[in-house]
Amino acid sequence: MNVKAYEKKMVGERAADFVEDGMIVGLGTGTTIAYMVQRLGKKIQEENLHITTVSTSNRTTKLAQSLNIPVFDLNEVKQVDLTIDGVDEFDVNFTGIKGGGGALLYEKIVAKASNRNIWIADSSKFVSKLGTFPLPIEILPFGHQHTMRQIEEIGLTPELRMMDDVLFITDSGHYIVDCLTGPIEDAKSLSFRLNQIPGVVENGLFIGMTDEVLLAENNGVKIFK
Ligand code: 5RP
Repeated sequence: MNVKAYEKKMVGERAADFVEDGMIVGLGTGTTIAYMVQRLGKKIQEENLHITTVSTSNRTTKLAQSLNIPVFDLNEVKQVDLTIDGVDEFDVNFTGIKGGGGALLYEKIVAKASNRNIWIADSSKFVSKLGTFPLPIEILPFGHQHTMRQIEEIGLTPELRMMDDVLFITDSGHYIVDCLTGPIEDAKSLSFRLNQIPGVVENGLFIGMTDEVLLAENNGVKIFK
């Protein structure tokens, strides 16, 4: 296992410790979260916990259900106690880029519905300035070339996401464009401008949406609040 995978496993498994009996837990998406979900499945069995979860992707739902973790529709719960999710890049202000796994829309909806959000990250995810990881933006298939042109007009370079030579389709039937942004000076203004474009469903900038970050560092996990 390489260092990055090792860190993902370490921080993912540690995150499961934050889940307590009776909680309604939001499950994020990605390779780091997969380790958390696996550990949570074991913990539920070993400690006979009663946990309700909501999921941010079909991928995570499938994994959770394979481990006998109960997954509910978001509409079936009033609020979420705690959501644990991964992140692609984050800075010292806890502004992040998400969507590398293509689940940014559901992730944002679940994060907003949550009383507490924790991101889990390997050490490569902490950056001094956002903008190295291409910003994912979820767009409608209808007229997507026009939407992409308007994204270009605000200075980004969008590229339609492909997977195995096939157009990537999100769980809600949209496309993702990954955008070279250069260093992001003003995430709030960029996020606002992007979401003003008709055809943009949501962008991958997460601002003020997490309370804590668990960061894998030097063979341990550091908690930032
Ligand atoms: C999915 C996400 C993921 O949380 C993000 O891409 C991190 O993924 P990984 O844990 O695989 O590095 O935002 O939409």
